[in-house]
Amino acid sequence: MGFNVCIVGATGAVGVEFIKVLERRNFPVDKLLLLASKRSAGTTLQFRGKDHVVQELTHDSFKSQHLALFSASGKVSRDYRDSCVKAGCLMVDNSSAFRMDPEVPLVVPEVNPDAAKAHKGVIANPNCTTIIALLALYPLHRAVPIRRVVAATYQAASGAGHAAMEELQDSTRAWLDGKPFTPKALPHPYAFNLFPHNSPMTDNGYCEEELKMARESVKIMADPSVRITATCVRVPVLRTHAEALNIEFAAPMPVARAYELLRKAPGVTVLEDRARNRWPMPIDAAGEDDVFVGRVRQDLTLPNTLDVWVVGDQLLKGAALNAIQCAELVLVGAVARNKVAAAKA
Ligand code: A2P
Repeated sequence: MGFNVCIVGATGAVGVEFIKVLERRNFPVDKLLLLASKRSAGTTLQFRGKDHVVQELTHDSFKSQHLALFSASGKVSRDYRDSCVKAGCLMVDNSSAFRMDPEVPLVVPEVNPDAAKAHKGVIANPNCTTIIALLALYPLHRAVPIRRVVAATYQAASGAGHAAMEELQDSTRAWLDGKPFTPKALPHPYAFNLFPHNSPMTDNGYCEEELKMARESVKIMADPSVRITATCVRVPVLRTHAEALNIEFAAPMPVARAYELLRKAPGVTVLEDRARNRWPMPIDAAGEDDVFVGRVRQDLTLPNTLDVWVVGDQLLKGAALNAIQCAELVLVGAVARNKVAAAKA
């Protein structure tokens, strides 16, 4: 059995990756419906070698759909959730709209796959920085509990959408040509620059992105004893986030053991050549499903504490891939289970 799948925000940075990931993973799609705003209705995108015309999203779009992959903004997700769920269509939402709703599972398949199966119509896809960090943190945490993480992130343009990716390229070109450039998608000059994350500032001095990382990680790992403090920074990289994680454990975690755990961890590749001072870089992870890890070392200033460097494609594991893996857990897993049950009957 295949599924009717629609993509809400199909023309966006994550939307086009949804299309590619569905195709590459051979997700059982019967019909694919591409949805966006009126602005890009009529545009054509390809799926499995065939043209698909983008249609305007309406409240009737979800009729006969089994799965809706949303990445169009929190407002669009909030506005269309009821229409989607009432139509009996599973919503996998890449926005932050419902992530902290206790009724909505927040899922990283390598960490809490069972949470996905308990959904009530909506599964939330976590924040990209959170997913990428957890791929490295969780296998370590399972072995020796993590007490505290101090994170510094180096975040790509793609997290702010297609317009920000274009702005990085256009402003870099303008800078090299000596031409003036006025930022539109982002609040500050981006070429040859970096700035603290552009998400809204909160009263306690953290920006929302930093708080998301702390709160979402606790929900996904279902462990309020893990405390995370982050400084999130936007850097002039197109689509891959990097993160420096200082991780304090409740008991000793030898470097060799951490490497062994990370080498075995699903979705993680250890990439390094110490002799050549070669560690994971954004260009290693761009377009890759795995998160790349290296530079695991004992913090010389604190016992039971390691420093770890992690790099992951923001559009794939940080967004489209993780969302489609969630859908696979619920829909494709269910079909496989039914087949086994039918064969046994
Ligand atoms: P459109 O191309 O019509 O603007 P990104 O995250 O890269 O900025 O992409 C956002 C995606 O969300 C785009 O596909 C965009 O479509 C879509 N989108 C934005 N606002 C709406 C809306 N009100 N209804 C449907 N789709 C929307």
